[in-house]
Amino acid sequence: MILPILHYPDKRLRKIAEEVEVFDDSISVLVDDMFETMYQAPGIGLAATQINQHKRIIVIDISEQQNEPICLINPVITEKIGKTESEEGCLSVPDYVESIKRFESIKVDAMNQKGENFEMDASDLLSICIQHEVDHLNGILFVDHLSKLKQGRLIKKTKKSGKEL
Ligand code: NI
Repeated sequence: MILPILHYPDKRLRKIAEEVEVFDDSISVLVDDMFETMYQAPGIGLAATQINQHKRIIVIDISEQQNEPICLINPVITEKIGKTESEEGCLSVPDYVESIKRFESIKVDAMNQKGENFEMDASDLLSICIQHEVDHLNGILFVDHLSKLKQGRLIKKTKKSGKEL
């Protein structure tokens, strides 16, 4: 099922997501719906926060063919190495792209849909995407990393274009 995506500056994007403790069918259904919603958008990452489900779940697929789905539940970034900067966008901030500074490589501890732990090394786009999505789970949007001046312009633009708040 395709779910509606919340748009900036919706306050629900600021909620801090809670850890998943029970890995039942409802989590599998939610993960499937998140992948469907992300692919349809189309996007390369989606956090549960963005579809108003405040659970620590992110889905990612950075492959060209959209056939390499990655699901991270209760993700924790345990190592951050190096620096990088690249253009980012977000399904919750439509039609807006800005250059954002991130760590180049990270190590992540997470769980799969069955509640099994795994560790992952990520660099480049995958690393950036995970950092962006983990931010969502903490109520942080990529535009929060911008200067106040740029954030001010963004708010005006959003209001002018009459997007749903
Ligand atoms: Ni986003």
